[in-house]
Amino acid sequence: MYPIKNLICLSTLLVIAVSAASHTGDDDQIAAVNRHSLMMVMGWGMKPIADMYAGKATFDAELAALQATRLVQLAEMIAPIFSRNTAGKKVSTSTLDLVWETPEDFRLKTENLLNAAIDYREATGQGEASARQAFKPLADGCKGCHEDYKSE
Ligand code: HEC
Repeated sequence: MYPIKNLICLSTLLVIAVSAASHTGDDDQIAAVNRHSLMMVMGWGMKPIADMYAGKATFDAELAALQATRLVQLAEMIAPIFSRNTAGKKVSTSTLDLVWETPEDFRLKTENLLNAAIDYREATGQGEASARQAFKPLADGCKGCHEDYKSE
């Protein structure tokens, strides 16, 4: 048996934990954090590939294909994770409201990246030169969206 004092302590802690969770549990802010997190992982996925073209690593077809597969999976998550419209909401975010004002263009840019990642993955199996050629559209896929939809 636990002394009653401990139980009271535990229930107080629970109340604090639950209210802390609901405080930061603002669905709009969670959506903003999720967007940012997805993009940070996207950066993690891209880095080993980008390093191969920045003279920081030698071309490794297997690693390039693996990371490209991850980028494909992450690209497929952009639409669902950006689906919550937080335009005009009080959230801390680097995502511009334009995402939900020009949804068709945002969708196209998402699709461009997805296709570029699929093409790049394929190209890694066709030798270093093919992969190099397919890298530019992939990098442009990231940049093209950031220019329009990400604040500095
Ligand atoms: C369809 C649009 C879109 C595409 C495509 C896209 N991003 Fe993003 N990215 C964003 C937006 C919007 C943000 C701002 C997210 C936020 O609110 O923090 C962002 C933020 C980032 C950040 C955080 C940067 C910072 O300074 O906080 C990284 C890293 C990133 N993206 C990497 C990538 C990489 C790598 C790719 C390509 C493989 C990519 N993104 C493709 C829209 C996109």
